[in-house]
Amino acid sequence: MDQHGTTFVNEIKKVIAGSAFVKLALGNYKGTEAGLKQLYVKPVLIKNKQQLAFNYRYKTRDIFKNFEIAEGLSLIDGYLAGDFHVATLFSTSEEMILERNAKGNFRLRTKPLEKKKEADLSHNKEKKRLILAKDNLYLHELGLTDERGTVFKNAQDKYKQINQYIEILSSLIRELPEGTIKNVVDMGSGKGYLTFALYDYLLNHQQKAHVVGVEFRKDLVDLCNKIAVNAKFEQLSFAEGTIESYDTVAIDLLIALHACDTATDDAIYKGIKANADLIVVAPCCHKQIRREIEKGKAQNELNFLTKHGIFLERQAEMVTDGLRALILEYFGYKTKVFEFVSGVHTPKNVLVVGIRNKEQGLRSKEQRTKSKDEVLQRIKETKQYFGIGYHHLERLLEI
Ligand SMILES: C[S@@+](CC[C@H](N)C(=O)[O-])C[C@H]1O[C@@H](n2cnc3c(N)ncnc32)[C@H](O)[C@@H]1O
Repeated sequence: MDQHGTTFVNEIKKVIAGSAFVKLALGNYKGTEAGLKQLYVKPVLIKNKQQLAFNYRYKTRDIFKNFEIAEGLSLIDGYLAGDFHVATLFSTSEEMILERNAKGNFRLRTKPLEKKKEADLSHNKEKKRLILAKDNLYLHELGLTDERGTVFKNAQDKYKQINQYIEILSSLIRELPEGTIKNVVDMGSGKGYLTFALYDYLLNHQQKAHVVGVEFRKDLVDLCNKIAVNAKFEQLSFAEGTIESYDTVAIDLLIALHACDTATDDAIYKGIKANADLIVVAPCCHKQIRREIEKGKAQNELNFLTKHGIFLERQAEMVTDGLRALILEYFGYKTKVFEFVSGVHTPKNVLVVGIRNKEQGLRSKEQRTKSKDEVLQRIKETKQYFGIGYHHLERLLEI
């Protein structure tokens, strides 16, 4: 490795020694290991000894291994010189990014954090949280807290994010008549952090609700079901399968957080079909509409922006989610779209919310038809303007 690579490795050693190490993310894998995409390395305390926890992320599974510091560092060194071409080191005060180009040259950049990471949470803050860490078995079994209920340093962001979600969901739930939420589905529940937290919140603050997490990864479904049994969460379960094939009987609240690309549309579709009172999605990538925009090659006033890839990406995001909101409105939902968590933690930070509009029922049939026609017209015009042949959600709903 050249000077930049060496500086990066030395920085890793320095932040580990100074207890300022938060996470190392390696990406852009170009090696021969089938399905390997990323590697995340975090510090862990095992029997009071600091080690490095490696999470190898494959397309359809995760592999976890812990290493002594020296052994872990030597592996990282090899990976940086070898098959991973981008690495980001997150410390408590900055991000350092190492990139390797096709010629094998390294580039090094640093980015100060907008807000310094907190070393720990103050007592007062802990008191205000809706999801408490102390005596919380599922947070412990999901690997976010130690035996005493202290949130691990490297899990602070996740813990904060869980609480932010629950705060937002609780305020949306409070907009509905009491007792509305009896059946909840979390589409693409992943490791279940938010599914568990939502069940916990409903149990403690509202009435008991039936909550199901739908996930196609069997290892995650098995893990979450085991933890649900251990936590004695009798009405929480996880179902192995796809969002598309999930049989929607009754859903009052549907959430889908970071379900990729059109999986978010599949989730919204299930919510609309089930007449859910509340639909909350945090969309992930927006490839389907981006492809449509590129294919359509529409000429409009925004071409001066979208000739740049990054703006095209952002436009695809806005148009995809804007159309999702319009489609929800077409089906009688009031909508809100807003940023829910600072972009420092995740770039996937937009929530699209649909609340079933009970007032619609009070309007005459003519009034309802007129506003539906207007929304449909807007959807058509928007597609035409951006050169979009179809939107996946629109196609599912056959409008
Ligand atoms: C990025 S993770 C998000 C997990 C969780 N919702 C969260 O926000 O922490 C997306 C999850 O959705 C699952 N997933 C994606 N598409 C799916 C589909 N069509 N059916 C079922 N699960 C899906 C993936 O396996 C993955 O675990």
